[in-house]
Amino acid sequence: MRSKVVTIDRHIIDQERLHPGASGRFSALLYDIALAAKLISREVNMAGLIDVLGRTGEINVHGEAVEKLDVFAQEAIYKAMDHAGHLCCMVSEECDHIISIPDQFELGPYVLLFDPLDGSSNINVNVSIGTIFSVHQRITPRGRPGTIKDCLQKGSRQLAAGYIVYGSSTMLVYTTGIDQGVHGFTLDPSIGEFLLSHRDIRIPDPPAKIYSVNEAYYARWSKNQQRLVDHFRGLNGEGGGGYKSRYIGSLVSDFHRTLLQGGIFMYPPDSRAPGGKLRILYEAAPLAMVCKAAGGRASDGSRDILDIEPEGLHDRTPLFLGSASLVDLAEDYLAGRVERPEEEADS
Ligand code: AHG
Ligand code: MN
Ligand code: MN
Repeated sequence: MRSKVVTIDRHIIDQERLHPGASGRFSALLYDIALAAKLISREVNMAGLIDVLGRTGEINVHGEAVEKLDVFAQEAIYKAMDHAGHLCCMVSEECDHIISIPDQFELGPYVLLFDPLDGSSNINVNVSIGTIFSVHQRITPRGRPGTIKDCLQKGSRQLAAGYIVYGSSTMLVYTTGIDQGVHGFTLDPSIGEFLLSHRDIRIPDPPAKIYSVNEAYYARWSKNQQRLVDHFRGLNGEGGGGYKSRYIGSLVSDFHRTLLQGGIFMYPPDSRAPGGKLRILYEAAPLAMVCKAAGGRASDGSRDILDIEPEGLHDRTPLFLGSASLVDLAEDYLAGRVERPEEEADS
């Protein structure tokens, strides 16, 4: 018996009904995010055919070369979200400053923060990429444009968070709260609908024995970080072993695999990036909320990502994300709480 077909719109309405006080405006915001995802998915899947490959020649606020699809994705989200009256402002990885809502449009109670295209370096080699989004409630008085105060909120205050992964199929995965579950929708391009394909995702724990990190940076890590990865590799007497290493270099794809199979994704601090590489507001915090809502954990190595108070729109953080047991283990190694093999030998 085929399971019933549930579109994302139907799911959003059903979820809204669970919250009698819901205004419907939040649901409309989620529809528009799904619309932007469809537009980007179409472009991503055509990228090899029409001239959206390659670099614009511009450099973004992080000094990174901007790929044309980054620009398209940025515009697609902006144009889908700027006029519907849900938002008081937006934050994008691709924009130094807050993005205001044009004067002619009504202001709304929410803030949208997003990474329009994550994993850009993979665009030209047809490796899956993604979009990450986070929604906050504004905290300054309504009726005026949103301010930086509305944007610099800690992850635990997010109203919704999720991502789209443009892979062998396009999937939208989101949560509306750490106690609201995580649901995945797969795009059926023949009808242009996101259909519920992964109801109430739970991250496996005990996890698949998979660790995900850019091992090329090993020499730049702290001793404890090196010992942790030696544990996964079964080297230097650190026990462990029996793990697979998987690293796509696209955070959304590495996280999506971790969410479905279990394991741990790590972007540790290193001598070149002592504060980590990944951005808090529109990479770490939204994925941390999805991970926690699925029963996992997200840490900067010692603190819960969702407790970090961001001080700047593009603040970065180290990130350890995945099955709770492995994130706990990572924190134990990083805090030096795991006895060194020679200590065990001596004792
Ligand atoms: P973005 O394309 O949005 O700048 O993100 C790229 C990030 C993330 O997707 C990935 O996990 C990480 O960069 C890979 O970094 P390294 O190439 O240093 O491993
Ligand atoms: Mn990114
Ligand atoms: Mn990006």
